[in-house]
This record gives sequence, structure tokens and C-alpha cells, in this order.
Amino acid sequence: MFFRLLFISLVMSMNLQAAVRFEPKPLPYAYDALSPVISEETLRYHHDKHYAGYVNKLNELIAGTPFEGESLEDIIMTSDRAIFNNAAQVWNHEFYFEQLSPEPALRPSESLLEAINRQFGSVEAVREAMNQAAVNLFGSGWVWLVVDDEGELSILSTRNAGLPMRHGLTPLLALDVWEHAYYIDYRNRRGDAMHETWRVIDWRKADERYENR
Ligand SMILES: [Fe+2]
Repeated sequence: MFFRLLFISLVMSMNLQAAVRFEPKPLPYAYDALSPVISEETLRYHHDKHYAGYVNKLNELIAGTPFEGESLEDIIMTSDRAIFNNAAQVWNHEFYFEQLSPEPALRPSESLLEAINRQFGSVEAVREAMNQAAVNLFGSGWVWLVVDDEGELSILSTRNAGLPMRHGLTPLLALDVWEHAYYIDYRNRRGDAMHETWRVIDWRKADERYENR
């Protein structure tokens, strides 16, 4: 009887492991840490419902497919349709949440700052150009500060779950332009939401990403 129970629990735990191939990463700060720029309510929905929902859906979709044993990065580079959409949204949200901080550096440093000043004129100009791109994006998507293989910076808008790696570009920062990211706090005022979000974007993350590209 004992061994039978042991066997059943082992099989159940193996099945469970297969079902939870990817797990949501916890936020690197408290849910209320970014308030009032991003409220606790928004973060709870954004992280626990939307992001975790993409993770769960991805696990469901890849079960029993050749993607099951692959890394998230491999999946986003080689999949399409529903698997791509969910995998990319997992990646995009982890990238987005990681760059936010209750104690952000509000400017980049040294080499990234030089590159920004050379190409855009100022940090303010980059912020404004990204905000404008977000306002101009029809529907849902993302606005990215990206760097190419030559070290050239640019701003990229992607629809829905689209991401820079599928365009051969390395992302440094992202604005989430899905309504779920701002609607509770800013309603239809997308421009205001983007403008305010910069108060919790930590440019140290962009510096790191730029140095490690
Ligand atoms: Fe989002």
C-alpha cells in the first residue's frame, strides 16, 4: 500500500512538473512600491492575472509539443501564432517588470548616455519620442528603445506580443502599451500613463543591458 501510494505521488509530481514548465517570476518589489505612478491594484492585475495568465497558457500550449523542452528564448525565436504570442508576452513582461523600481536612476550613465545624446540629442528627447510612439500605436503593443549590432539606437513599435529579437535588435527599455498596463490608473489617457511611467523606470537596467549586449 505504501509503495503504491509512493508510486502514485511520484507520477503525480512528475505530471505536475511537466504542467508547470515555466513559472511566473515574482515582482522584484512590493505590489504597492510603485504607487502612485502604478497602483497596487494595477500591479496585482498586471502581474498576477495578465502575466501569470500568459505563463499558464504557454505551459498548456507547449505540453506534448517539441517546444516543451526548449528555453523561453528559443520558443520566442522559432514559434508562431498562439505559442509565440504567449511566450513573447511572458518574455516581454519579465523584461518590463524588471526595469521598474521604486528607487530608479532617472538617467542613463556614461556610454549609453553618450550614445543617446549623439543620436537623439537628449534623454528627454528619447522619452518624448517613445511616448509619442506609444500614443500613435493603434491597438495593443510595445514601444522599445533598441540597439542594433552596430551600436545604433532606435525606437521600435511592435504590435501585440511582438518583440525586438525577432527584428534582429536588442531591447534596452520597454513601454507596455496594452490597456491592462494603465487603464485602472489612467483610463484612456495613454499619453499621461507613458509620461508618468518614466518616474519608475530604472535606467540602470538599460545601462546593464547596453553593456551586456
Ligand atoms: Fe502588460
